[in-house]
Amino acid sequence: MARFITGDLTKGDLAILMEGKKADVIYSDPPWDDAWVSIFRKRAGKELEGQNIQTFLESFVVELKKYAKGIVYLEMGMKNINLLRTILKNHGAVELNLWKYPLGKGYQYLWRGYFNPGNYPIVNPVFAYTEKEAHARLVKNDAVPGGILLDPCIGIGRAYDIAKKVGMDCYGMDISKVKIEKLSKRIK
Ligand SMILES: C[S@@+](CC[C@H](N)C(=O)[O-])C[C@H]1O[C@@H](n2cnc3c(N)ncnc32)[C@H](O)[C@@H]1O
Repeated sequence: MARFITGDLTKGDLAILMEGKKADVIYSDPPWDDAWVSIFRKRAGKELEGQNIQTFLESFVVELKKYAKGIVYLEMGMKNINLLRTILKNHGAVELNLWKYPLGKGYQYLWRGYFNPGNYPIVNPVFAYTEKEAHARLVKNDAVPGGILLDPCIGIGRAYDIAKKVGMDCYGMDISKVKIEKLSKRIK
């Protein structure tokens, strides 16, 4: 099952998406920042939509904390990974893993951690030819079959592909109506 809406997480729109539910797993690739994105993801275009990265990441983490029941996976570029980790820590998140992947001339990171204590398995990095496949294999360790996987910045849906692979329902939101329309069309 999939449920997608267009919405702005900084405006509290996740409440509309989640309808009082919480996510068993969160997997998200939030916007990095527009200058950085233009170096590594030329085709991605503007993703922060004029928002300031620090203010955005603050709201992002506050919102994640409201809706996270279990493990959280977050992707972030090298420029702002430490800013994100500091904000997560300030809001009580516990870091379990931080994996580093080559990307263009630099690196990107995948953070795994939680807000609510639980019995979380040790997860070791996996080899796969694509990053998407590697992430799906990592998330599989934390998957709750039939549970909710949430991505509040879902874009065109990597989180949906992962949710499908690991047997979870996907709840996704994006500020871009065009991306949500593309995603809905793609999965029909
Ligand atoms: C790095 S992209 C995500 C790419 C995604 N993993 C995919 O598979 O396409 C970040 C996304 O965050 C969205 N975004 C930016 N500001 C947002 C906000 N305030 N609320 C919700 N989504 C937002 C952007 O539109 C963009 O699609």
